[in-house]
Amino acid sequence: MTLDAPPVQYLNLDPGLYIRPEVFQQERQAIFARTWQFMGPVSALAEAGQYMAIDIAGTPVFAIRARDGALRGFKNVCRHRGAKLLADGSGKCGLIVCPYHKWSFADTGRLVQAPWYGKDPAIIPEDWPLEEVHMAEWRGLLFAALDPATSLLEQLGDLPAELADEPMETYTATDQATVTFDANWKIYTDNFVEGYHIPGTHPSFYAAIDFEAFQTTAHPGFVKMTAPPKDGLFYRGKWLWMWPNWTLSLFDGGMNVSRINPTRPDHTDQHYHFFFANTSDAAAEARAKSVNGTLAVVKEDYTVCVETHRNYAAGAYSPGPLSGRHEKGVQYFQMRVAEALGL
Ligand code: FES
Ligand SMILES: [Fe+2]
Repeated sequence: MTLDAPPVQYLNLDPGLYIRPEVFQQERQAIFARTWQFMGPVSALAEAGQYMAIDIAGTPVFAIRARDGALRGFKNVCRHRGAKLLADGSGKCGLIVCPYHKWSFADTGRLVQAPWYGKDPAIIPEDWPLEEVHMAEWRGLLFAALDPATSLLEQLGDLPAELADEPMETYTATDQATVTFDANWKIYTDNFVEGYHIPGTHPSFYAAIDFEAFQTTAHPGFVKMTAPPKDGLFYRGKWLWMWPNWTLSLFDGGMNVSRINPTRPDHTDQHYHFFFANTSDAAAEARAKSVNGTLAVVKEDYTVCVETHRNYAAGAYSPGPLSGRHEKGVQYFQMRVAEALGL
């Protein structure tokens, strides 16, 4: 290596990777089934029978606090003819009863009853338990994995050290929001992991930070973006994205955590959970400012992502160059995707 070697010029990913249905199928198997997926706050499953149901790139799963105290996870799919058992979201149940033909399952996954099934031949309940899903907790956050390639801690890389001083466990989960947009999940992720677009896409956000001091760095497992906030911005000036699809942004006195979940190659849901230190009525206005401010900023991102997706889908774009100063996060994310897909 010579000292005056020119820096490598990285190009954006092939737009076909954002469009083709077979790539999405491959991502579901190679990325979404093999990694830990952020579900929500563990505090939502404090009592026996409380559950949380989510979708992982098309596969429905749920976590439940069982009556024996264990936290268990299952595919949210009936063993009879494959109906969905529990609606997405949180709730509390006794037996888990399939809405289709009323088979019921215990919180251990065991089939309890298959009413009106008949005895000719009879069904053997032990043969038809719910399929288990892996569960792990980290600092008050719950994760699920269908077929994890690594432990959760391995996947998190250097994130635990990055957040060692953040009193995450002292925050209370207060609000949730799901927002959706018509673009591939990677287009939005490319957008999330750079601040380069802030002057163009978020004028009021731009005015509230010292953009010249914006920094983006890639670390094992995550991308970190920082910028000194000016007075009045609800953000604390640190935004994190974690492989493969979750984010954590710090507020004054709290944080938001989100999961970017593809439902189709051209459609994505983003599930937000908001956490705050001060849950008093007196602080309600400040909390609402952080929640609404977050959602207003991401809607500006969705608009540009939807237009970008259309250009990729139309074959109107061939890969352009990525900035070494501002798009290190994009390079890191795209490298991880390429690696996972064996490109
Ligand atoms: S599919 Fe669930 S009971 Fe038939
Ligand atoms: Fe943005």
